[in-house]
Amino acid sequence: IVAATAHDAALTAARIIQGIVNEADRRHVKATLGLATGKTPQAIYAELVRAHRDERISFRHVVTYNLDEYYPISPRDPLSYRTYMHRHLFAQVDLPPESAHVLDGSVPPAFADEACQFFDRWIDADGGLDLQLLGIGRNGHIGFNEPEPHRSVAEFAALPSRKVTLDVVTRADAAADFGGNLDAVPKYALTVGPRVILAARRIVMVALGSSKARIVARALTEDPTTEVPASLLQLPEVAPRVTWILDPDAASLL
Ligand code: GLP
Repeated sequence: IVAATAHDAALTAARIIQGIVNEADRRHVKATLGLATGKTPQAIYAELVRAHRDERISFRHVVTYNLDEYYPISPRDPLSYRTYMHRHLFAQVDLPPESAHVLDGSVPPAFADEACQFFDRWIDADGGLDLQLLGIGRNGHIGFNEPEPHRSVAEFAALPSRKVTLDVVTRADAAADFGGNLDAVPKYALTVGPRVILAARRIVMVALGSSKARIVARALTEDPTTEVPASLLQLPEVAPRVTWILDPDAASLL
C-alpha cells in the first residue's frame, strides 16, 4: 500500500490493528500483538490512543510483546523502549500492565540470551503472534536483527530471540536520541528473532520518508538475502501474510 501521506500510512496501519483486536473481542479470544518502536509507529500509537478514547478499541483482552530493547539499559531509563511504550501507548489505554511484555535490558549478561529464549517460549505458549508490526532500519534490519551476510537465509530465518551487537548504521541513527553522542548509544540489544517474527499470522511493515527509499527498494526487489533482513518477508511461506505500508517518499525508488 502506498498511502497518500505519512499520516494516512499510520491510519491504515492503525485500522489493521483495530480490526484484529475488535475481531478477537467479537470471538471472545485475546489478540496477541508484536509491537515496534522508533519514530515510525508513533503516529500509529497516537491513532490507537484516539480510537481507545472514542471507545472504538479496547486493550483489555490484548497481550503485547515488544520486538526489541537496547542492552544494557534500565527499563526506567527515559531512552529505553519500555519507557517509549509506556509513554506512547501503555499508559494511555486499558491494556492490563501484566499483559505488556518488553525484553528487560537490565538482565545480567550471563542471562541475556536465556531471558530472550524465555520470551520466545512465552510467545509460543500464547499461540504465537496474531500481528507483528515492523519498521525497517536503514540497513534493512527488522527488530534489531541486523544483516548477517555469513548466514544462509534458512539459518537466519530460524534464529531465536537473542542478544545482538548493534550495527554501526543503527547506532549512528540512534545517536540523535542519545543527545547526539554516539558513545552513549548502547552497543548491544535484545531482539525477538526472525523465527517468531516471520511466523506471525499477519505482518505489517511500515516505512516512511526518503531515508528509507533505498532499503525499501532493496528489500522488495532483490532476492531474499541476509544482507537485507527485511527481504526475508518475501519468502514464499511468509509473503502472503505481509502488508507493506509506505508513504510516497519511502516508495519513490520502486
Ligand atoms: C530501530 C528499532 C526498529 C525500528 C527501526 C526503524 O532501531 N529497533 O524496531 O523499526 O530502528 O526506526 P525508525 O522508525 O525510527 O526509523
